[in-house]
Amino acid sequence: MTPTTLAFEQFPTDALMHVTQRPPAVFVRGLGSWLWDSTGHRYLDFVQGWAVNALGHAPAVITDALVQQSGRLLHTGPGFHNDQAIGLAAELTRLASLDRVFFTNSGAEANEGAIKLARKWGQLHRRGASTILSFGNSFHGRTLATMAASGKPGFDRLFPPVLPGFVKLPYNDLDAVEAAIDGHTVAVMLELVQGEAGVIEADAGFVAGLRRLCDRHGLLLIVDEVQTGVGRCGPLFLHQGLGLRPDIVTLGKGLGGGVPIGALLASEAVCCFAPGDQGGTYNGNSLVCAVARAVLQQVARPSFLAAVCARGEQLAQGLAELSKRHGLGAVRGQGLLRALDVPDDGAATIVDALRRRADDKRPGLLVNAARPGTLRFMPALNVGSGEVELALAMLDEVLAELTLSVG
Ligand SMILES: Cc1ncc(COP(=O)(O)O)c(C=O)c1O
Repeated sequence: MTPTTLAFEQFPTDALMHVTQRPPAVFVRGLGSWLWDSTGHRYLDFVQGWAVNALGHAPAVITDALVQQSGRLLHTGPGFHNDQAIGLAAELTRLASLDRVFFTNSGAEANEGAIKLARKWGQLHRRGASTILSFGNSFHGRTLATMAASGKPGFDRLFPPVLPGFVKLPYNDLDAVEAAIDGHTVAVMLELVQGEAGVIEADAGFVAGLRRLCDRHGLLLIVDEVQTGVGRCGPLFLHQGLGLRPDIVTLGKGLGGGVPIGALLASEAVCCFAPGDQGGTYNGNSLVCAVARAVLQQVARPSFLAAVCARGEQLAQGLAELSKRHGLGAVRGQGLLRALDVPDDGAATIVDALRRRADDKRPGLLVNAARPGTLRFMPALNVGSGEVELALAMLDEVLAELTLSVG
C-alpha cells in the first residue's frame, strides 16, 4: 500500500502536463464518501471524481466486478462480440427506453458520436442538413467537435479553426430556437441541467417546446445526460423525470462509477451508422461494461433513487439555511447535483478554506467552484444523511470564519 506520510513536495508532479490548477495534495485512498491524502489527512468528498463515483470510493460491488471480470475476460477488441457489452446494452436500452447503444470511453466521445450520428441521419433523411443548434454556456466535452458544440465562453478561441456546423442560442429561449431553424438544421442538442455552467436548469416548458419544435420540423433531439444521468438528479435519467422523449441520449460519468465508460443511445429510426462509420479500440470493453452493469444494478433500484432524492432535499434545505444565515445567493439543482451562489466571486476562496481545514484532527471538505461565484456539490449518490449534515456544518463554520476574517 502507498505510504501515507509523504508530503506533497516529495511527489515529482513536474512530469505531468500542466492542464489545470490542482491543489497541493496527493490522494492515495478512498472509501465511500471519504478520501485520504498522502499525509493521512481525510476529506469528505463532495466532488467524487467530478460527479462520477455514483457509489462513492472503492465500493465492494465494483471491486467484486473488477476482480471477477479481470480474471475472466478483459478485452476482445471491437471486431468481436463479448457477453458483458451485450448484457449492458440490453439493460441500458431497457432502462432508458431507447433501442440501441454504442459504448464509448468518455462523455465527450459519446457526444462526438451523437454529432456524427445526427450528421449521418441528415445526409440520409434531410438532404444533407448538418447544423446542430446548441446553447450558450453549455458543456459537451473537449474533443474538437464537442468543443465546437459547447457554449463555454472562450472555447472558440482556444484551438482555431472551430469545426463549423453549430449555432449557439440562449438557453431556455424557445423563440430563439424556432427562429434559428432552417433547411440546414438537423438537430437540437442540450443538457437538461447545465452542470459546468453552474447548475442551470432547463425550464420544463422549454424542454417540452423543444420536442414539439423537433417533431414539427423533423429534427433530432439530442440530450446530453453525461452529468445528469444515472441517478445524479433523482430519476435514473433526467429526461424521464421531465417526461421527455429524446431521439439520442449520451451518458458518461456515473455510468462507470469511477471506471471510464460512456454511451450513445438512440431510437431505432435514428440508428443509421453503417459498418465502418464509427468505432474505437476500447469501445465495449468487457471490464468496464461489467462494472457499469454492477453500478446500474444498484442505482436503478427505486429505493436507491428515493434515497438520492431524500439526500438531495436535505442538502438543498441545508444550503438554503446557510444562504439565509450568511447572506449568500440562490440554491439550484436537483437530486445530488446542487449549487449555491456566493457573493464577490468568492467560490474559490471557500473551496480552498474547506480543503485546508483538514489537519491531524479535523477533516476537510472537497467541493467544486463551478463558477467564480458558484459552489457545486456532487456527493456520492449513496452519501449518508450524517455526512450531508457534516458537510453543511463544515461549510457553516468556514463561512463564519471567512466573514470574521473579512470583517
Ligand atoms: C454535460 C457534459 N457533457 C459532456 C462532458 C464530457 O465528459 P468527459 O469529460 O467524460 O469527456 C461533461 C463533463 O463534465 C459534461 O458535464
